Amino acid sequence: MDNVHLVSHPLLDHSLTILRDRRTGTGEFRRHAAIVAQIVLLEATRSLRVRSRTVPTPLTSARGKQLAEELVLVPVLRAGLSMLEPALEILPQTPVGFIGLERDERTALARAYYQKFPIDLENKRIIVLDPMLATGGSLIDTLARLRDRGARDICAACIVIAPEGVRALHKHYPEVAIHTAALDSHLNEAKYIVPGLGDFGDRYFGT
Ligand code: PRP
Ligand code: URA
Repeated sequence: MDNVHLVSHPLLDHSLTILRDRRTGTGEFRRHAAIVAQIVLLEATRSLRVRSRTVPTPLTSARGKQLAEELVLVPVLRAGLSMLEPALEILPQTPVGFIGLERDERTALARAYYQKFPIDLENKRIIVLDPMLATGGSLIDTLARLRDRGARDICAACIVIAPEGVRALHKHYPEVAIHTAALDSHLNEAKYIVPGLGDFGDRYFGT
């Protein structure tokens, strides 16, 4: 699928399989979700621009590099919070915006209940964090809100996505790249991803 970047790494495959396993308890689920999220994020940030920077070492000086782009992380509450700490471990200086969305369990339509973004989103690279992309409704809503606030350069970091959600998202926003650990088969009648890993938020938060 266009603009879907499937991340591949043995440690990611190992941890993703533990996440999929219905027998995995909350503690292990959290630990392996963090590993998967961090590996996906390393790939999602691979194309960041850098500029040269020379620093004094204890012995002499060394030519190095520093990030030449400003980022904003936007976790989609609740499940996206699972990816925030792993993201901040590798991007500790990054501002964070929040959007709270909840799918109605009957209709699978997303309802927004919270939003707080940094003031300036223009000329920033925005990484939306949401482990699951099912129908695409939550991500489409998130992107519309970010665009409304001036954001232009946006990508998504996910863990498991469904083809239906990718098609819906790219119908509206074909330019938005999705970085993910897995592209699964399809959605079931209840709009859950198959084979998937169940309800990510419930498993991560133990609800
Ligand atoms: C999950 C997930 C996404 C959404 C994906 O959240 O974290 O935000 O579903 O589904 P969609 O692509 O069909 O919109 P959920 O609504 O279950 O809320 P939660 O994060 O509070 O568990
Ligand atoms: N949200 C989840 O947490 N899991 C799914 O399979 C679909 C949406």
